[in-house]
Amino acid sequence: MQNKHLLKLLDLSREEIREILDLADQLKYDQKHGIDHQVLKGKTLAMIFEKNSTRTRVSFEVGMFQLGGHALFLSSKDSQLGRGEPIEDTARVLGRYCDGIMIRTFGQDTVEKLAQYAGIPVINGLTDFCHPCQVLADLMTIREHKAELEGLNVCYIGDGNNMANSIIVGCMKCGMNVSIACPNSYRPDGAVLEFVKSVQDATFTLTDDVLAAARDADVIFTDVWASMGMEDEVKARREAFMGYQVNDAVMAAAHPDCMVQHCLPAHRGEEITAEVFEAHAQEIFDEAENRLHAQKAVMALLMK
Ligand code: CP
Ligand code: NVA
Repeated sequence: MQNKHLLKLLDLSREEIREILDLADQLKYDQKHGIDHQVLKGKTLAMIFEKNSTRTRVSFEVGMFQLGGHALFLSSKDSQLGRGEPIEDTARVLGRYCDGIMIRTFGQDTVEKLAQYAGIPVINGLTDFCHPCQVLADLMTIREHKAELEGLNVCYIGDGNNMANSIIVGCMKCGMNVSIACPNSYRPDGAVLEFVKSVQDATFTLTDDVLAAARDADVIFTDVWASMGMEDEVKARREAFMGYQVNDAVMAAAHPDCMVQHCLPAHRGEEITAEVFEAHAQEIFDEAENRLHAQKAVMALLMK
């Protein structure tokens, strides 16, 4: 892997994504067959959380343990970050103690600055702009279920948020056709809409028509209507996103073998019905599990 950090999928080549997914598959197989890989023995990952988490925190901490290393949890509330210590200084301090940093925060600029100053690998555990670790796990899950990624039709229904941004970039880099259904005022990031223009071997569609986006889909993604940090907008967003729901009608428009992916947590009755969620629970919890394996691969490649 050429990159020293995992800050956003825009930075990775198709080959680097494939390298991560291949190693993730191997680490998953080995973990299930009792084959140990203590490749990060004696190494420490600092995990900074400025937003809540269940999956990201647990999968990184367990992943570090399984690789022979140690992970430590820093919440912005208890650390000096919460009292305004600049990220540049936090970066240089952690760089003296640790071997890698995972950060979940608001601005993408915070993650980029952390990487600029830390002198050790930085991994983005979600920003307002993107969620690269999640989409690597999603690509791994889709490949497990569908064997090949190239040529698959991927549909995302809902907010043009961090997940939408990473799905577009990750899937199109892997040669998958992407269609997004979102309200006009909740479109994906401008940098991502620029990126799609550069892709030669995959198509991109942006529409406000949910059924049109779902037509012939092999994979349907959705995510919450109001992300972390948007708590004040919940009511307005409930109105704006009414109808942007993965339900039986949407699934009927898709390919008969269509998978459903949801990064979780899910709001049943909003972006997805309870029926569709439960019918696709196996795929959705495979996706959650694969966070562990995909991130172990990322850490092994960046921190060894
Ligand atoms: N999908 C995801 O990142 O979950 P958490 O917010 O629980 O970490
Ligand atoms: N878009 C969601 C994803 C949570 C994993 C959020 O940012 O809150």
